[in-house]
Amino acid sequence: MQELKRDGYIIEGIPRKGYKIISFPNKLSENTIQWGLNTKWLGQHIVHKNSTTSTQTIAHELAMDGAKHGTIVVADEQTAGKGRMNRAWHSSKGKGIWLSLILRPAILPHKAPQLTLLTATVLAHVISELGLQPYIKWPNDIIINNKKAAGILTEMKAEQDQIQYVVIGIGINVNQTITDLPVEIQNIATSLKIELQESLIISELIQKLLSQFEKKYEQFIQFGFQTIKENLGRLWI
Ligand code: BTN
Repeated sequence: MQELKRDGYIIEGIPRKGYKIISFPNKLSENTIQWGLNTKWLGQHIVHKNSTTSTQTIAHELAMDGAKHGTIVVADEQTAGKGRMNRAWHSSKGKGIWLSLILRPAILPHKAPQLTLLTATVLAHVISELGLQPYIKWPNDIIINNKKAAGILTEMKAEQDQIQYVVIGIGINVNQTITDLPVEIQNIATSLKIELQESLIISELIQKLLSQFEKKYEQFIQFGFQTIKENLGRLWI
């Protein structure tokens, strides 16, 4: 109970009955992501950091230490966020989703890049449900109104014919205003808030993303990439 109060939950004691949650905090924590999370295995173990260099780095360390399939690492802020091709990924405090998923798929290593496209379809789906029109710029960017709103960084450790683990890094610009973005990317990047003209609750968006990802991932493992690809033609590519 104390832990929940520290997280910002307002809780009322009801005599002989227990406790009632009066209001939920609008902040990121293991609790705010887990409560109401409608998944079987993805995000059942959450590592949350207020600030870290990169959730990718932590996810690799945890995976090497045996972290379970479906463990997620999420941060309010990254001080050395990593983009593809050694680019920096700007990850300011409380303004976006900075998230890494640890997966242990029983697929051949050469199929791992398909997980990037799967992730892109998941992001596009969640973003389109907000009323926006995203499209996927292959292989890993989500574009809204010609500007980049999200990116995916897939990394893995594998032997010749076996994947040890995959870390999927997801960065989504959520609540930045234009001036929150670094000047040098203001004309090529955007955020969901800029596009929607309203702020979003980051923990709720993470829940939607995890739930959709789990669904698509299970489809992918069971039926292969074809089913994911079939859905793609319809919209975003
Ligand atoms: C890209 O478009 O270049 C990929 C960006 C990926 C950024 C995410 S944020 C969470 C995870 N941690 C990182 O350091 N990078 C990925």
